[in-house]
Amino acid sequence: MVNDRQLLTELAARYGTPLYVYDLSAVRRAAAALREDLPAGSRMFYSVKANPHPLVIETLRAEGYEAEVSSVGEMSIAIASGYAPERLLYSGPGKSSSDLRSALAAGVRTFSVESVTDRDRLGALAEAAGVECDHLVRLNGPAGSVRGSLRMTGGASPFGVDVADAEALRSLLTRRGRTRPVGLHTYFATNVGDEDGLIAEFEQAVRTVSVVCHDTGFAPGVIDLGGGFPAPQAAPGELARHPRLAAAIENAVETHFASRPSDMEVAFESGRYLVAAAGTLVTEVLDLKHSHERWFTVLDAGVNALGGMSGLGRLRAPDARPYRLDSAPLTNEPMPAGPHPVALVGPLCTPLDVLNRSVDIGDVKVGDLLAVPNVGAYGLTASLVGFLSHPMPVEVVHDAGTVESVRRLALQEIHI
Ligand SMILES: Cc1ncc(COP(=O)(O)O)c(C=O)c1O
Repeated sequence: MVNDRQLLTELAARYGTPLYVYDLSAVRRAAAALREDLPAGSRMFYSVKANPHPLVIETLRAEGYEAEVSSVGEMSIAIASGYAPERLLYSGPGKSSSDLRSALAAGVRTFSVESVTDRDRLGALAEAAGVECDHLVRLNGPAGSVRGSLRMTGGASPFGVDVADAEALRSLLTRRGRTRPVGLHTYFATNVGDEDGLIAEFEQAVRTVSVVCHDTGFAPGVIDLGGGFPAPQAAPGELARHPRLAAAIENAVETHFASRPSDMEVAFESGRYLVAAAGTLVTEVLDLKHSHERWFTVLDAGVNALGGMSGLGRLRAPDARPYRLDSAPLTNEPMPAGPHPVALVGPLCTPLDVLNRSVDIGDVKVGDLLAVPNVGAYGLTASLVGFLSHPMPVEVVHDAGTVESVRRLALQEIHI
């Protein structure tokens, strides 16, 4: 189904635009595909940051995915969506005392720690709460061979502990008070675009983790190898499959952890791959303007609705490639030269509000509805939703065409 044209057109007529539409059947398909591409028996975590909609989370829970959360907000939604708190993995480089206190009080018992300070803060708060908890130690391993859209290991990084920092690692892998080390965690990059690249990164992750274990004498109960599984973003395309990945990872684990206990778990995390394909953003063309030889298509969705991190200038514009709801979808083939490539811009009063600097979407008129495919991950909640105070897009969730939920998030003023 994935959000067919008639459904999108009907939903836009009913709820207005900009409108996010998520298809739970696509989430299930991605969940099954990723599981199939990884070693049998692996623990699979959904990284809630990619899309924290409760029905998306609930669907992945039903598919047997655990949840990785990085804030009290994500934790609360995951628990409300049916996750047992003691099964959550709480990660992130900046956990405050207040965050950790709330997480411990809610019953979370496994944390990924990123420094000695992080671990000590957790240990002290666990002691104060009178509870025992477990931690994984996140590593900043060597730089890999491939480029994800954002790399997180190699070089200077706020994430994890440098593998060369033997003193910190020895401390973190020793029990301290009420928190005990149970495993290692690594996350090399997001959106690694080809299977050979992914294989090389996972082989290196396994090698890195095994060297740390060897050097410190630590026997992990779990090695969380992270992810980086790719998905198309705001453009047409299908989810890639990785038929050689499972065997390659199994082989690396066999080689580097030959004498591991039989109950050592291998875990993976994914956000993007699981939810990207499920989401479509429908937006209306508000204006079409010609200026200095360029065409601008002004949409009712800008970086306040999609790709907000690009609005901060930290990432390039999302390169959105929408299709008109009354025309054939664009393919990945180069488009025949249209009457005019257009810049897709949003409604915000800043030249940074750009969804694509130049794209050919064929003949487009004021009032047309455009659909941006593959925006289920890092869509609405990764955007500059507060800038200019437009209402947030409505989010519709359906399951193969049956509407399950319609909501609009809003920023809330709380007087303190
Ligand atoms: C530690 C960690 N796990 C998981 C993810 C999810 O990444 P992706 O959505 O690319 O699968 C991220 C992304 O930033 C991350 O930092």
